[in-house]
Amino acid sequence: MTRFIGIISGKGGVGKTTTSINLGAALTYFGKNTVVIDANLTTPNIGIHLGVPIVPINLNHVLQGKNTMNEAMYEHPCGTKIIPASISLYDLKKTNPDNLKKHIRSLDNKSDIVLVDCAAGLGREALMALDAVDELLIVTNPELPAITDALKTIKLAEEMKKDIIGVILTKTKENNLDVSINNVQAILEKPVISSIPDSKAVREALTLKDAVVFTHPKSEPAVNYKKLASNLIGKNYEEEMPRGFFSKLFSKKGQ
Ligand SMILES: Nc1ncnc2c1ncn2[C@@H]1O[C@H](COP(=O)(O)OP(=O)(O)OP(=O)(O)O)[C@@H](O)[C@H]1O
Ligand SMILES: [Mg+2]
Repeated sequence: MTRFIGIISGKGGVGKTTTSINLGAALTYFGKNTVVIDANLTTPNIGIHLGVPIVPINLNHVLQGKNTMNEAMYEHPCGTKIIPASISLYDLKKTNPDNLKKHIRSLDNKSDIVLVDCAAGLGREALMALDAVDELLIVTNPELPAITDALKTIKLAEEMKKDIIGVILTKTKENNLDVSINNVQAILEKPVISSIPDSKAVREALTLKDAVVFTHPKSEPAVNYKKLASNLIGKNYEEEMPRGFFSKLFSKKGQ
Protein backbone atom coordinates (compact mmCIF):
# COMPACT_ATOMS: atom_id res chain seq x y z
CA MET A 1 0.00 0.00 0.00
CA THR A 2 1.29 3.44 -0.90
CA ARG A 3 1.84 6.08 1.78
CA PHE A 4 0.56 9.51 0.73
CA ILE A 5 2.38 12.20 2.73
CA GLY A 6 1.73 15.94 2.36
CA ILE A 7 4.48 18.49 3.04
CA ILE A 8 2.55 21.53 4.22
CA SER A 9 3.13 24.71 6.18
CA GLY A 10 0.71 27.59 6.36
CA LYS A 11 3.25 30.33 5.75
CA GLY A 12 5.05 30.49 2.42
CA GLY A 13 8.77 30.25 1.85
CA VAL A 14 9.54 28.14 4.91
CA GLY A 15 11.20 25.21 3.11
CA LYS A 16 8.45 22.83 1.89
CA THR A 17 9.90 22.32 -1.58
CA THR A 18 13.46 21.95 -0.25
CA THR A 19 12.15 19.36 2.21
CA SER A 20 10.10 17.50 -0.43
CA ILE A 21 13.06 17.21 -2.80
CA ASN A 22 15.58 16.12 -0.18
CA LEU A 23 13.22 13.73 1.54
CA GLY A 24 12.29 12.23 -1.82
CA ALA A 25 15.93 11.79 -2.74
CA ALA A 26 16.81 10.27 0.62
CA LEU A 27 13.81 7.91 0.64
CA THR A 28 14.77 6.67 -2.80
CA TYR A 29 18.29 6.06 -1.55
CA PHE A 30 16.85 3.98 1.26
CA GLY A 31 15.19 1.78 -1.34
CA LYS A 32 11.70 3.25 -1.38
CA ASN A 33 9.98 3.82 -4.70
CA THR A 34 9.11 7.50 -4.16
CA VAL A 35 7.19 10.02 -6.24
CA VAL A 36 7.36 13.76 -5.46
CA ILE A 37 4.39 15.74 -6.76
CA ASP A 38 4.39 19.52 -7.14
CA ALA A 39 0.87 20.34 -5.98
CA ASN A 40 1.75 24.01 -5.60
CA LEU A 41 0.01 24.96 -8.82
CA THR A 42 0.14 28.74 -8.31
CA THR A 43 3.86 28.96 -7.65
CA PRO A 44 5.38 25.59 -8.58
CA ASN A 45 9.05 25.30 -7.70
CA ILE A 46 10.19 21.68 -7.89
CA GLY A 47 11.19 21.92 -11.55
CA ILE A 48 12.96 25.21 -10.88
CA HIS A 49 14.82 23.82 -7.86
CA LEU A 50 16.02 20.88 -9.97
CA GLY A 51 16.90 22.74 -13.14
CA VAL A 52 13.99 21.46 -15.23
CA PRO A 53 11.57 24.42 -15.16
CA ILE A 54 9.81 23.34 -18.34
CA VAL A 55 8.84 19.77 -19.19
CA PRO A 56 6.65 18.65 -22.11
CA ILE A 57 3.90 17.13 -19.94
CA ASN A 58 3.16 18.29 -16.41
CA LEU A 59 0.56 18.06 -13.64
CA ASN A 60 -1.52 20.84 -15.21
CA HIS A 61 -1.96 18.73 -18.34
CA VAL A 62 -3.14 15.85 -16.16
CA LEU A 63 -5.65 18.08 -14.34
CA GLN A 64 -6.84 19.37 -17.71
CA GLY A 65 -7.62 15.76 -18.67
CA LYS A 66 -5.06 15.65 -21.46
CA ASN A 67 -2.54 13.24 -19.93
CA THR A 68 -2.07 10.64 -17.21
CA MET A 69 0.07 10.96 -14.08
CA ASN A 70 2.42 8.39 -15.55
CA GLU A 71 2.94 10.55 -18.63
CA ALA A 72 3.77 13.56 -16.43
CA MET A 73 6.32 11.61 -14.39
CA TYR A 74 10.06 12.15 -14.85
CA GLU A 75 12.64 9.85 -13.44
CA HIS A 76 16.25 10.22 -12.60
CA PRO A 77 18.41 7.19 -13.45
CA CYS A 78 18.59 6.37 -9.73
CA GLY A 79 14.81 6.07 -9.46
CA THR A 80 13.08 9.02 -7.76
CA LYS A 81 10.15 10.21 -9.76
CA ILE A 82 8.96 13.80 -9.99
CA ILE A 83 5.65 15.16 -11.28
CA PRO A 84 6.23 18.88 -11.87
CA ALA A 85 3.56 21.55 -12.38
CA SER A 86 3.59 24.21 -15.07
CA ILE A 87 5.19 27.58 -14.42
CA SER A 88 3.01 29.17 -17.13
CA LEU A 89 0.24 31.57 -16.12
CA TYR A 90 -1.67 30.46 -19.20
CA ASP A 91 -1.62 26.82 -17.99
CA LEU A 92 -2.54 27.89 -14.46
CA LYS A 93 -5.63 29.74 -15.64
CA LYS A 94 -6.82 26.64 -17.47
CA THR A 95 -6.18 24.30 -14.53
CA ASN A 96 -8.81 23.28 -12.00
CA PRO A 97 -7.40 21.53 -8.89
CA ASP A 98 -10.70 19.81 -8.04
CA ASN A 99 -9.58 16.43 -9.36
CA LEU A 100 -6.17 16.54 -7.69
CA LYS A 101 -7.09 13.82 -5.21
CA LYS A 102 -8.36 11.45 -7.89
CA HIS A 103 -5.14 11.81 -9.86
CA ILE A 104 -2.82 11.60 -6.86
CA ARG A 105 -4.60 8.51 -5.56
CA SER A 106 -4.30 6.90 -8.99
CA LEU A 107 -0.69 6.24 -7.90
CA ASP A 108 -1.88 3.90 -5.15
CA ASN A 109 0.02 0.61 -5.13
CA LYS A 110 2.32 1.87 -7.88
CA SER A 111 4.93 3.30 -5.52
CA ASP A 112 5.88 3.04 -1.87
CA ILE A 113 5.65 6.71 -0.92
CA VAL A 114 4.07 9.72 -2.61
CA LEU A 115 5.24 13.08 -1.25
CA VAL A 116 2.95 16.00 -2.07
CA ASP A 117 4.59 19.44 -1.98
CA CYS A 118 1.63 21.64 -1.03
CA ALA A 119 0.87 25.31 -1.70
CA ALA A 120 1.26 27.80 1.13
CA GLY A 121 -1.85 29.16 2.82
CA LEU A 122 -5.17 27.44 3.15
CA GLY A 123 -6.71 28.26 -0.19
CA ARG A 124 -8.52 25.81 -2.43
CA GLU A 125 -5.31 24.49 -3.91
CA ALA A 126 -3.81 23.65 -0.50
CA LEU A 127 -7.10 22.12 0.67
CA MET A 128 -7.28 19.86 -2.39
CA ALA A 129 -3.75 18.65 -1.69
CA LEU A 130 -4.56 18.14 2.00
CA ASP A 131 -7.59 16.12 1.03
CA ALA A 132 -5.46 13.90 -1.22
CA VAL A 133 -3.04 12.69 1.47
CA ASP A 134 -3.34 10.59 4.64
CA GLU A 135 -0.29 11.78 6.54
CA LEU A 136 1.30 15.18 6.99
CA LEU A 137 4.66 16.69 7.75
CA ILE A 138 4.28 20.25 8.98
CA VAL A 139 7.11 22.59 7.95
CA THR A 140 7.71 25.78 9.87
CA ASN A 141 10.51 28.19 10.67
CA PRO A 142 11.12 28.86 14.38
CA GLU A 143 9.42 32.26 14.13
CA LEU A 144 6.05 33.20 15.57
CA PRO A 145 4.28 34.23 12.33
CA ALA A 146 5.21 30.92 10.70
CA ILE A 147 4.31 28.92 13.81
CA THR A 148 0.94 30.67 14.09
CA ASP A 149 0.14 29.81 10.47
CA ALA A 150 1.30 26.23 11.01
CA LEU A 151 -1.07 25.97 13.98
CA LYS A 152 -4.00 26.96 11.77
CA THR A 153 -2.99 24.28 9.26
CA ILE A 154 -2.69 21.68 12.02
CA LYS A 155 -6.18 22.49 13.34
CA LEU A 156 -7.67 22.17 9.88
CA ALA A 157 -5.79 18.94 9.21
CA GLU A 158 -7.10 17.52 12.45
CA GLU A 159 -10.64 18.45 11.48
CA MET A 160 -9.99 16.55 8.24
CA LYS A 161 -8.78 13.57 10.31
CA LYS A 162 -5.29 13.60 8.83
CA ASP A 163 -2.44 11.86 10.62
CA ILE A 164 0.19 14.45 11.55
CA ILE A 165 3.56 12.71 11.69
CA GLY A 166 5.31 15.73 13.18
CA VAL A 167 6.88 19.12 12.67
CA ILE A 168 10.04 19.87 10.69
CA LEU A 169 11.74 23.04 11.90
CA THR A 170 13.61 24.63 9.02
CA LYS A 171 16.10 27.47 8.67
CA THR A 172 16.93 27.35 12.35
CA LYS A 173 19.67 29.73 13.48
CA GLU A 174 22.05 29.78 16.37
CA ASN A 175 20.70 32.90 18.00
CA ASN A 176 18.27 33.68 20.75
CA LEU A 177 15.68 35.10 18.37
CA ASP A 178 14.36 31.70 17.38
CA VAL A 179 11.46 30.21 19.28
CA SER A 180 12.94 27.18 21.07
CA ILE A 181 12.08 23.64 20.03
CA ASN A 182 10.30 23.10 23.34
CA ASN A 183 8.16 26.17 22.81
CA VAL A 184 7.37 25.18 19.21
CA GLN A 185 6.19 21.80 20.49
CA ALA A 186 4.18 23.45 23.25
CA ILE A 187 2.46 25.87 20.86
CA LEU A 188 1.75 23.32 18.14
CA GLU A 189 1.16 20.37 20.49
CA LYS A 190 3.07 18.18 18.03
CA PRO A 191 6.58 16.69 18.21
CA VAL A 192 9.42 18.38 16.34
CA ILE A 193 10.89 15.37 14.53
CA SER A 194 13.61 17.18 12.61
CA SER A 195 15.50 20.45 12.76
CA ILE A 196 17.20 21.72 9.60
CA PRO A 197 19.62 24.63 10.14
CA ASP A 198 19.70 27.68 7.91
CA SER A 199 22.67 26.78 5.81
CA LYS A 200 24.83 28.00 2.97
CA ALA A 201 24.88 24.39 1.74
CA VAL A 202 21.14 24.51 1.00
CA ARG A 203 21.51 27.81 -0.87
CA GLU A 204 24.42 26.39 -2.86
CA ALA A 205 22.42 23.27 -3.71
CA LEU A 206 19.68 25.52 -5.10
CA THR A 207 22.25 27.29 -7.26
CA LEU A 208 23.50 23.89 -8.45
CA LYS A 209 19.88 22.80 -9.14
CA ASP A 210 20.44 19.73 -7.04
CA ALA A 211 19.46 18.21 -3.70
CA VAL A 212 21.65 19.17 -0.74
CA VAL A 213 21.78 15.50 0.26
CA PHE A 214 23.96 15.04 -2.84
CA THR A 215 25.79 18.34 -3.23
CA HIS A 216 26.82 18.54 0.43
CA PRO A 217 26.20 15.02 1.79
CA LYS A 218 28.03 15.64 5.07
CA SER A 219 26.40 19.00 5.81
CA GLU A 220 24.01 19.20 8.74
CA PRO A 221 20.90 19.78 6.60
CA ALA A 222 21.79 16.76 4.41
CA VAL A 223 22.43 14.49 7.38
CA ASN A 224 19.24 15.62 9.10
CA TYR A 225 17.13 15.10 5.97
CA LYS A 226 18.61 11.59 5.61
CA LYS A 227 17.90 10.86 9.28
CA LEU A 228 14.34 12.06 8.86
CA ALA A 229 13.87 9.83 5.81
CA SER A 230 15.24 6.80 7.59
CA ASN A 231 13.06 7.46 10.63
CA LEU A 232 9.98 7.71 8.42
CA ILE A 233 10.53 4.21 7.11
CA GLY A 234 11.91 2.70 10.31
CA LYS A 235 15.40 2.12 8.96
CA ASN A 236 18.80 2.78 10.47
CA TYR A 237 20.42 5.94 9.23
CA GLU A 238 23.33 5.35 6.90
CA GLU A 239 25.90 8.03 6.35
CA GLU A 240 26.89 7.44 2.76
CA MET A 241 24.73 8.29 -0.22
CA PRO A 242 25.67 7.94 -3.87
CA ARG A 243 26.51 11.19 -5.63
CA GLY A 244 24.94 12.61 -8.75
CA PHE A 245 21.34 11.65 -8.18
CA PHE A 246 19.64 14.82 -9.36
CA SER A 247 22.59 16.41 -11.05
CA LYS A 248 22.36 14.29 -14.16
CA LEU A 249 19.88 15.31 -16.79
CA PHE A 250 16.34 14.21 -16.12
CA SER A 251 15.13 11.52 -18.45
CA LYS A 252 11.54 10.90 -19.42
CA LYS A 253 10.18 7.92 -17.53
CA GLY A 254 10.73 4.71 -19.41
CA GLN A 255 13.33 6.14 -21.80
N1 LIG B 1 17.76 25.07 5.55
C1 LIG B 1 17.83 26.09 4.70
N2 LIG B 1 18.90 26.92 4.73
C2 LIG B 1 19.00 27.97 3.87
N3 LIG B 1 18.07 28.27 2.95
C3 LIG B 1 16.97 27.48 2.89
C4 LIG B 1 16.80 26.35 3.75
N4 LIG B 1 15.62 25.76 3.44
C5 LIG B 1 15.10 26.47 2.44
N5 LIG B 1 15.90 27.50 2.11
C6 LIG B 1 15.69 28.49 1.06
O1 LIG B 1 14.51 29.22 1.36
C7 LIG B 1 13.83 29.52 0.15
C8 LIG B 1 12.41 28.97 0.24
O2 LIG B 1 12.50 27.58 0.34
P1 LIG B 1 11.41 26.64 -0.34
O3 LIG B 1 11.19 27.03 -1.75
O4 LIG B 1 11.78 25.25 -0.06
O5 LIG B 1 10.15 27.07 0.54
P2 LIG B 1 8.60 26.74 0.28
O6 LIG B 1 7.97 26.58 1.63
O7 LIG B 1 8.48 25.60 -0.64
O8 LIG B 1 8.10 28.08 -0.42
P3 LIG B 1 6.68 28.32 -1.14
O9 LIG B 1 5.69 28.52 -0.02
O10 LIG B 1 6.91 29.56 -1.92
O11 LIG B 1 6.38 27.13 -1.96
C9 LIG B 1 14.64 28.91 -0.99
O12 LIG B 1 15.46 29.92 -1.51
C10 LIG B 1 15.46 27.84 -0.29
O13 LIG B 1 16.69 27.58 -0.95
MG1 LIG C 1 7.45 25.49 -2.51
